[in-house]
Amino acid sequence: MDKFLIRGGRPLKGRVEISGAKNSALPCLAATLLTAETVTLHNVPYVKDLITQRRLLEDLGATVLVPELRTHKVTANNIQTFEASYELVKTMRASVLALGPLLSRFGQAKVSLPGGCAIGTRPIDLHLKAFEQLGAEVSLESGDVVARAPKGRLQGSEIHFEKVTVTGTENVMMAAVLADGTTTIRNAAREPEVEDLADLLVKMGAKIDGAGTETMTIEGVEALCGAEHSIIPDRIETGTFIVAAAMTDGQLEIAKCEPRHLQAVIEQLGRNGVNIEQVDATTLRVSRDSKGLRSMDVTTEPHPLFPTDMQAQYMALMTQAEGTALITETIFENRFMHASEMIRMGADIHVSGNQAKVNGPTRLAGARVIASDLRASASLVLAGLAAEGETWIDRVYHIDRGYETIVRKFRALGADIERIADYMAETA
Ligand code: UD1
Repeated sequence: MDKFLIRGGRPLKGRVEISGAKNSALPCLAATLLTAETVTLHNVPYVKDLITQRRLLEDLGATVLVPELRTHKVTANNIQTFEASYELVKTMRASVLALGPLLSRFGQAKVSLPGGCAIGTRPIDLHLKAFEQLGAEVSLESGDVVARAPKGRLQGSEIHFEKVTVTGTENVMMAAVLADGTTTIRNAAREPEVEDLADLLVKMGAKIDGAGTETMTIEGVEALCGAEHSIIPDRIETGTFIVAAAMTDGQLEIAKCEPRHLQAVIEQLGRNGVNIEQVDATTLRVSRDSKGLRSMDVTTEPHPLFPTDMQAQYMALMTQAEGTALITETIFENRFMHASEMIRMGADIHVSGNQAKVNGPTRLAGARVIASDLRASASLVLAGLAAEGETWIDRVYHIDRGYETIVRKFRALGADIERIADYMAETA
């Protein structure tokens, strides 16, 4: 397994361009299954999860052309099977996003049940219950979810999610666009990625109202057509670079981002003493306030509040801030695995249940640490960049899942970070 070697303590300086949002590109690629015509997606980030998603489409029989690095042209006119294999689902939970479109267009789908994962049990019961409300018969057969629309087509219905679920909302949207009649989704996720998916679906001919609000209405149509769409910028990557600038006391220009999508993060970090200036519609200039960083409590919540996907990076920042910060995680259980690794680097963090208390500032010192999930890995990179000495991060395949060319991007900003291939790391 490859590792990162970081020699910390260098302020980051320069300009970085944000890639397309992984969490938007994943459902948008799944949505290409809804039509036999070609759907062209631009700004698809070059990350491992998207390569997996592309394989899933190809395994089902779709043709995926990549005429340029970040452009995917998908034609799903020859779907051979309605089954996403365990091999794929076990490496990427978002494979479950194939369920909605397959069920909607072909009236049948089979996807392995995602296993337990590092950040909690993450069930898909709410997706399945909603499919049943749309008239599907859902059963579990030897670890696979098998769903069928008995009449060949789903029926529009009232769906009320008892808990906000992002991929659940997306799956139901894709299931409802070709259903008979109208579907209302209440307590829908309002994440920008849900809106981006709705934008694509509307371009494909879907009738969707209220995307980005708590209540969405979807009027089923006979068929969808081809379309062209550009994926929104990754708000979590943007937030990660903002924290990187603040933690290393650097100065960054973060370009090709969408500040509107991370308002809660920008406001919170502003209160912590991070200067974030909007240069133009898609560019932010970030530096640390001369008065230094201040600790503040944060609670993760569904959009538009503070995102769970920024919690680990925020914890890294709080190790460098003055005072005590109480971080409360309300979305996922067991999402503090980065805390023990930061403690190995010298951080003063106490975890109790779904809360972590961070006392700062502490001097971080390089150490050997292990990445446990995607965002935890990012937070360890941030801690390593701010630490004195060498930090070795193991299991960086997690970060490859969602951050495009992260080593190259950080190196261009003056960071001393390198990827050490497995065989070299063993002897280092
Ligand atoms: C998505 C994002 C992930 C982000 C998360 C929360 C993608 C590919 N991933 O994950 O990066 O951290 O939103 O913003 O977009 N739940 C159930 N039953 C279900 C579905 C969800 O109990 O059927 C629970 C989950 O365990 C969790 C909460 O609902 O506690 C929210 O999960 P959800 O929004 O579904 O997360 P994902 O869509 O998996």
